[in-house]
Amino acid sequence: MPKITNLNKAVFPVAGLGTRFLPATKAQPKEMLPVVDKPLIQYAVEEAYAAGIRHMIFVTGRNKRAIEDHFDTAYELENELEVAQKLELLKLVKSVQPQDMDCSYVRQPRSLGLGHAVLCAEHLVGNEPFAVLLADDLMVGPQDGQPVLAQMSAQFDRLKQSILAVQEVPAEHTRRYGIVAGEEMKDGLMKVNAMVEKPAPEAAPSRMGVAGRYILTPAVFRHIRNQPTGVGGEIQLTDGIASLMKEEAVYAFQYKGKRYDCGSKSGFLEATVELALQHPEVGENFRAYLKELKLG
Ligand code: UTP
Repeated sequence: MPKITNLNKAVFPVAGLGTRFLPATKAQPKEMLPVVDKPLIQYAVEEAYAAGIRHMIFVTGRNKRAIEDHFDTAYELENELEVAQKLELLKLVKSVQPQDMDCSYVRQPRSLGLGHAVLCAEHLVGNEPFAVLLADDLMVGPQDGQPVLAQMSAQFDRLKQSILAVQEVPAEHTRRYGIVAGEEMKDGLMKVNAMVEKPAPEAAPSRMGVAGRYILTPAVFRHIRNQPTGVGGEIQLTDGIASLMKEEAVYAFQYKGKRYDCGSKSGFLEATVELALQHPEVGENFRAYLKELKLG
């Protein structure tokens, strides 16, 4: 088995169609929708950066150019801000793209599923462990603790095996998640021995649902590739991981923090309200505004 190195690469699959947000996503990517003043994808990239990752790999599709532009130098804007001496704004714009961060882009020609999207990044990841972050799951770590991916990478440093972020979900919601079961260990870890994609509540092996953060060993690529394609030619990441489990240990980690499902309208609205309330610039006024609302 190859020696497992430290985590230095993150894959952001952003090639989905975002149909639940039409018409907003007709001509712009879902991942560029802002929660307060930052696009979803930037929250995810900052989370990966905070976990020590410096190579960001985006699996993009049609209509996703705005993501590349967002993480590129905005020369004209920066020049105008400098001339106008708007230095705080200039700092903010430059902070999107720290100097020690590299970005690579690869296209997924058709939306053939999350497993297929991850496979598209294989040649950029190579034979290294890597993180996968789904930007439409916005993760907020505890106030006095680490962001979610940093919590996972600390576990990875010890275990050197694949780790999936999980949370307990209500029984009636198991159909929305990959559900895992296995041997409970300490520190919120579980050694996974069963994984089922979107089971009915009565068929779910537990209530531990996989959230959009993964750390995977490179062996997973072979397992994804060997999966039969499902409905509409889709290749599921869950199936690849379930197959990897037969060869290597896979752990589930119950992270500390909160997940907002920003791929759905209601999750997106919940994130917007809660993050707006915490925002240093608008939080106080927004709280006063909400208190005045007469909610029937
Ligand atoms: P989703 O199914 O939540 O995203 O996939 P979607 O397909 O964009 O959204 P809806 O359901 O049509 O509204 C989870 C993540 O996987 C990516 C998506 O971009 C999203 O971040 N994805 C999904 C791909 O990159 N390629 C795919 O083929 C499928």
